[in-house]
Amino acid sequence: MPDSHNLFALLLLLSLAVVSCAGPQGQAGPLGPAGPAGPMGPVGPAGEDAAAGQTFVGAAQCGSCHEEIYSRFLQTGHANALAAVSNGQPPAFPYDDITNGLPAPPAGYTWDDISYVIGGFGWMARFVDNDGYVITGEAAQYNFANENLETDAEWAAFHPGEPVAFDCARCHTTGYATQGHQDNREGIDGTWVYEGVQCEKCHGPGSRHAEDPQGVRLVVDRSAQLCGHCHVRDEKATIDAREGFAEHNQQFSDLYNSKHFALDCITCHDAHTSARYEDAERSPNKGISQACETCHWPQEQVQNVSRHGRVTCIQCHMPLMARSAVGRLDTFTADIHAHQFSINPDPDAPQFNEDGTQVMPYLTLTYVCGQCHNGDFADVKEPAVLAAAARGYHAWIPPTATPDPTPEPTAVPEATPTSQP
Ligand code: HEC
Ligand code: HEC
Ligand code: HEC
Ligand code: HEC
Ligand code: HEC
Ligand code: HEC
Ligand code: HEC
Ligand code: HEC
Repeated sequence: MPDSHNLFALLLLLSLAVVSCAGPQGQAGPLGPAGPAGPMGPVGPAGEDAAAGQTFVGAAQCGSCHEEIYSRFLQTGHANALAAVSNGQPPAFPYDDITNGLPAPPAGYTWDDISYVIGGFGWMARFVDNDGYVITGEAAQYNFANENLETDAEWAAFHPGEPVAFDCARCHTTGYATQGHQDNREGIDGTWVYEGVQCEKCHGPGSRHAEDPQGVRLVVDRSAQLCGHCHVRDEKATIDAREGFAEHNQQFSDLYNSKHFALDCITCHDAHTSARYEDAERSPNKGISQACETCHWPQEQVQNVSRHGRVTCIQCHMPLMARSAVGRLDTFTADIHAHQFSINPDPDAPQFNEDGTQVMPYLTLTYVCGQCHNGDFADVKEPAVLAAAARGYHAWIPPTATPDPTPEPTAVPEATPTSQP
């Protein structure tokens, strides 16, 4: 019965056709949720550390782009902290016109016998011989004249009779490494890439930044600790003293022990400008970018000694109590500013510990007021008189208030304290 077979096939085809003609297909539904992430691919090789791949290029190259910073930097002690001596010529420094430069090396030496000069910028110079030892003797250190102290330029003693190795490079050079001896001079501990405290000492080596300034950034460390690597002696907690003055290069210890411990050095200092010399063009205001009055305006308003009209905050709160080259005990004045700031008005407070080897974390009237009230600049005053004026120095005392200590009822109070300058 072939016909019934055909009929069945036809019916089947028809029914399929009915199904397939049922209507147009609907729109695709929304995408289902993403499936789980596949397994991680293999880890690639470690990239190069941006800093590690960099080498030192020297301040002059940084200066080719950062011209303005570089021109100020050249006039700082940092740029001049160590100078190589070549061709038997004395090195030149930016303020030779003020200091009169270095007349000669220590007696018995010619410039050919000198490999390096340390300092020579601001206060004094020391000299390194061809074997790399710092020259010692009764007349081995050259101190510049100091107008403030009324001292002339002079040769001074430096560790007479003792050999002194040159272990100074970690603070006076850039790219310092502890191993080896620079130029194979046996007296020198370690090697360096550049003399002086250059840009790359503070910002890190910069070869790749110099090639690609936008792509490779350098470090800008604004902390006091950066400066504290060098502006400190043995440790930050103590302030060393010797022969009636604080030792120099310990501003970080001063600051650490002061109520300014939370400030950074660059809160006040421009890191690229000299604080030693005022220079109308490159160092106006000695690179001090923030005056005391910005934060302490009430103290500027009230000073209880009217005749102090022209005495500055810095003269009282940052007296020259640390010694680099010279200090005079008769006027309680040396050549580096204290960074402790607080004044202790107690006339009996000691400035140093018992054996005179450490400085207290405050300033005493002996050094603060004594730098002027010594019979030279202003009258000598009894400690009690100074203390009476110092206590509450910036406190406004209303003219009607009871003076302290209370005088006898019949006594006429002495000179009513003036409230306003
Ligand atoms: C080819 C020109 C060029 C040279 C060479 C160069 N710099 Fe720069 N530097 C720049 C530019 C441009 C910028 C600003 C980059 C930016 O803002 O993205 C800059 C930025 C900086 C910054 C600021 C970074 C920041 O994050 O604020 C420092 C610090 C710096 N340079 C230091 C250096 C030192 C140190 C050297 C020498 C080792 C040096 N530069 C060499 C062009 C240069
Ligand atoms: C003693 C450390 C020190 C040295 C040396 C130094 N810098 Fe700086 N530099 C700093 C510090 C700290 C800052 C941050 C300053 C701030 O924020 O006030 C800075 C900021 C900068 C900046 C970015 C901000 C700005 O002032 O424009 C540039 C660019 C720079 N330095 C370039 C240089 C170059 C170029 C040199 C060398 C010619 C150099 N620095 C030498 C410490 C140093
Ligand atoms: C811990 C860091 C550090 C070491 C180490 C160091 N110095 Fe200095 N030196 C400084 C600082 C900071 C200053 C500037 C600040 C100051 O004097 O208060 C300075 C200043 C000087 C000056 C005066 C510079 C001038 O222009 O008048 C001379 C000279 C000097 N040092 C010699 C040496 C000698 C020599 C050695 C090694 C026997 C040495 N220093 C080791 C940090 C150091
Ligand atoms: C690598 C060590 C080193 C670091 C870090 C350093 N200094 Fe110095 N600084 C010195 C030395 C050494 C001298 C003395 C140079 C000279 O006079 O010959 C000096 C001198 C100075 C001077 C006096 C000379 C001048 O030109 O005014 C000032 C101010 C100063 N530093 C401030 C700073 C500040 C602020 C910082 C941090 C931003 C800093 N230093 C970081 C080593 C350092
Ligand atoms: C950026 C703000 C700032 C600047 C700039 C500043 N100081 Fe201060 N000073 C402070 C702060 C904050 C304290 C801590 C206040 C406290 O402990 O009560 C302080 C504390 C002091 C103290 C100690 C007060 C005490 O109770 O013994 C003296 C003194 C002082 N400053 C003097 C100065 C002098 C001088 C200058 C300028 C060379 C100066 N300050 C610049 C913020 C500043
Ligand atoms: C003639 C010296 C002298 C001068 C100038 C001077 N001070 Fe003072 N200052 C003192 C004495 C002393 C004290 C301590 C007062 C006390 O402990 O009672 C003091 C205390 C302070 C204190 C601690 C808080 C307070 O009021 O006792 C600050 C902050 C201060 N001075 C900031 C300044 C500023 C800012 C300037 C400049 C506008 C300045 N001083 C000028 C002598 C001076
Ligand atoms: C509150 C402001 C302030 C702070 C914070 C400060 N300084 Fe100073 N510094 C000064 C002033 C003001 C001078 C003196 C400028 C002048 O001669 O008139 C000075 C001078 C200096 C000098 C030049 C040497 C001298 O005594 O004449 C050095 C070096 C120095 N400071 C280093 C530092 C270092 C390092 C730090 C941080 C540890 C620091 N200072 C923090 C205000 C400050
Ligand atoms: C920068 C110099 C200088 C400093 C620092 C200084 N004085 Fe004076 N002082 C003077 C001068 C100048 C006079 C006015 C002339 C005189 O009396 O010899 C004076 C006058 C005085 C007088 C007399 C006021 C009058 O009306 O006759 C007193 C009291 C006094 N000072 C106290 C102090 C005390 C306290 C300190 C320390 C906290 C101090 N001085 C720090 C320069 C200074």
